Amino acid sequence: MTIHIGAEKGQIAKTVLMPGDPLRAKWAAETFLTDPVCVNEVRGMLGFTGTWRGNRVTIHGSGMGMPSLSIYANELIRDYGAQTLIRIGSCGAMQSDVHLRDVILAMTASTLSTPSRGIFRELNYAPCADWSLLSAAARAAEARGTGLHVGGIYSSDVFYDERPDLNEEMTRHGILAVEMEAAELYTVAARHGRRALAVLTVSDHLLTGAALEAPERQSGFAEMVEIALEAAFPGA
Ligand code: HPA
Repeated sequence: MTIHIGAEKGQIAKTVLMPGDPLRAKWAAETFLTDPVCVNEVRGMLGFTGTWRGNRVTIHGSGMGMPSLSIYANELIRDYGAQTLIRIGSCGAMQSDVHLRDVILAMTASTLSTPSRGIFRELNYAPCADWSLLSAAARAAEARGTGLHVGGIYSSDVFYDERPDLNEEMTRHGILAVEMEAAELYTVAARHGRRALAVLTVSDHLLTGAALEAPERQSGFAEMVEIALEAAFPGA
């Protein structure tokens, strides 16, 4: 047990999928895993461990934003030995050729965020995905004909953003989309020599204001879970 995770040692798998929403973790575990067992419910942050095609997997919520994700990623890595962490979540598109429901694999995640600022000070560290996971996820997405983009994203500290000028600069510099967790996941994983990736579905579009309805969000989420599992266990 840790401060924020009630699981016993050994109840967390080496591979962890991390949706932001704990109820999404429950849904994904019940939908995709064999014999899922609830291993955490501290503060309502749900985690489940089961198997997928014979491989042990934990699906654990991260909460919203980098400070929340950082707590769970640190404890999963340091106290439970998680080796592979894949964020599955939604994002807002920042390029006109990125469409609702497309999947984005975040090769890098730019951020202004404070957890990493404190460490890096004047260094503009570039949080980046694990190549083996990124390439396996790209193959999995291509095999299913998903609209796919691989490139840089922006991990914001705020959903209700007051810096339209900064968003414009990011669009101008090719940033594909905005979300709120990947940069910290990549940074914590790198610090501990673990593998990380963010697989994101475009749920809304910053340039057009378009947004997915709830049923489309759900099917987009299901597709991400499958891509993440196939990336974690290629050939399984
Ligand atoms: N901003 C931040 N995070 C998001 C967004 C957004 O527009 N859409 C989905 N996650």
